Amino acid sequence: MCGIVGYVGKRNALPIVLEGLKRLEYRGYDSAGVVLWDGEEIKFEKTAGRVAALEKKISNKPWQGNLAIAHTRWATHGKPSDRNAHPHADCAQKIYVVHNGIVENYLEIREALTREGHVFKSDTDTEVLAHLIERPFLATSGPIALEDAVLDALRHVVGTFGLAVISKDDPQKIVAARRGSPLILGLGDGEYLAASDAAAIVEHTKNVIYLHDNEMALLTPQGLKIFNLSKKTLEKPVDTINWDISAAQKGGFAHFMKKEIFEGPAALENVLRGRLLEKDGVSKLGGLESVRDKLLNVKRILITACGTSYYAGLIGKYYFEEIAKVPASAEYASEFRYSNPVVDESAAVILISQSGETADTLEALREAKKHGALTLGIVNAVGSTIARESDAGIYNHAGPEIGVASTKAFISQLGALMLVALFLGRQRSKIPLNLGEKFVKELKGLPAKMEWILKKDEEIKKLAKKYLKHKNFLYLGRKYQFPVALEGALKLKEISYRHAEGYASGEMKHGPIALIDENFPTIVLATKDMVYEKIISNIEEIKARSGKILAVATEGDDRILKLVDDVIFIPQTLEMLAPILSIIPLQLFAYHTANLLGLDVDKPRNLAKSVTVE
Ligand code: M6R
Repeated sequence: MCGIVGYVGKRNALPIVLEGLKRLEYRGYDSAGVVLWDGEEIKFEKTAGRVAALEKKISNKPWQGNLAIAHTRWATHGKPSDRNAHPHADCAQKIYVVHNGIVENYLEIREALTREGHVFKSDTDTEVLAHLIERPFLATSGPIALEDAVLDALRHVVGTFGLAVISKDDPQKIVAARRGSPLILGLGDGEYLAASDAAAIVEHTKNVIYLHDNEMALLTPQGLKIFNLSKKTLEKPVDTINWDISAAQKGGFAHFMKKEIFEGPAALENVLRGRLLEKDGVSKLGGLESVRDKLLNVKRILITACGTSYYAGLIGKYYFEEIAKVPASAEYASEFRYSNPVVDESAAVILISQSGETADTLEALREAKKHGALTLGIVNAVGSTIARESDAGIYNHAGPEIGVASTKAFISQLGALMLVALFLGRQRSKIPLNLGEKFVKELKGLPAKMEWILKKDEEIKKLAKKYLKHKNFLYLGRKYQFPVALEGALKLKEISYRHAEGYASGEMKHGPIALIDENFPTIVLATKDMVYEKIISNIEEIKARSGKILAVATEGDDRILKLVDDVIFIPQTLEMLAPILSIIPLQLFAYHTANLLGLDVDKPRNLAKSVTVE
């Protein structure tokens, strides 16, 4: 949930790590800090607030140095404040630590260290790391390498960490280590970087090494060494980042969220690229080849994920059942992991995650593996833990998603789920060639239809303005559009702080209808599909109670114009694919609502992009 970045090389490290921090701010933005070695001494500053507040605090300090580490925080232990901001130091103020993750046994360690005389200055779990690292230095007068002290400290830690450490007594190095929280290393020309995410590095180098759990790296001006926590040296492959810095910039848009909504058509094209065979009406998924036979034998599919990715999974459940005729279900990863799931070798468990690092989804993956299930990842972030630990899977290739509200990733996940369903459907001969061809053709034409909807941006902004005074919203949808209602409501609440409830429209009579009056508008997904008439009945019921209705409907549907207060039309498509279109107006509606309210769209309160803690 936090972001860390470190640099050692020939250039001034300060602007490099501060710029890197800004690119990691989506991971947490309640406080920030930096520590720099200027060749003679340690300089550090930290503050509650954003990276901009940190920059302001150091703006009159002419710091220069070739080595620095920095941090942007999402508070877990201890309020956001100057003293709880990272870096944290030992008693002697010689060792500085930035950390992402949770030291679960920190209270125990803190008590033991306090008895030994260590004095703590913050409420964080992280500070124990600095004092643990200090311990071997206190126990001997001889030289100790910083990496050995870090190794020693980590032996006491229960929990997760992606961390970077520097020391005044061993100043030409950064020690970085990982267990459960991501760390990527960048190899530049005579310079080395470490960060929570490639976005902080890609401007300087595209050559990267993904650190795995229980691995440690030593970054010095002379090079990079990697070893495990038993200090065995490891040779690791160098990967190449296949996108560039412009993908992590706003590119003329006011917010990342808006840019990413507008990248929806490209995200769909990218996930489909090279994976659709129109003449055979099927998908070709290299990532599933190694498990092709196993897949043929699975008797059921369980999809698990969190947040937006879970809602994509709810739609995926329909895809698998309808196209491949495999029994499927979807469950929150946070529930699945503690549910003693009844899964075994006969099941495939699909993990969906944009970041590939969500703690609950990762643990669900491990739980599924423990039970012998085949695990498949649908993941956007290349090299992420879920992608690596899954038996097989497919990447979304949607490019970095920076806005906290997930938008293009959802679209891309639906594309990926459809690809997997087509793969299974044809593999099991459950879908005739002509139907397969129809899907493939329609999928290929969807990006153009998405562009058509995006042109309604101004119209949707006007509607957001019209509904701005309302503080509560009901979102209704049925079958494929039910998860879209859930996702539309999630978008609105997470960035505009408006109360929004997503509901299956068939459930409206079982409770939520009591909420309806002229001040409680409903956003209804009323596209032309097999449940259209049912939705129309719901609309009538809402109208009879003076409820205001904004509908998302199929172009050419004149009937609906007479029934509702406002309509956003979307193009006709196959009903299974309609969510890929109908979510776009809801994303834009949420975006404009939050923006008109003057809220920070990309960094909503209390949230972080990647939830790597439970
Ligand atoms: O990275 P993941 O897809 O695993 O993230 C899952 C959720 O945390 C994420 O979708 C979250 O709900 C978003 N803020 C929704 O916009």
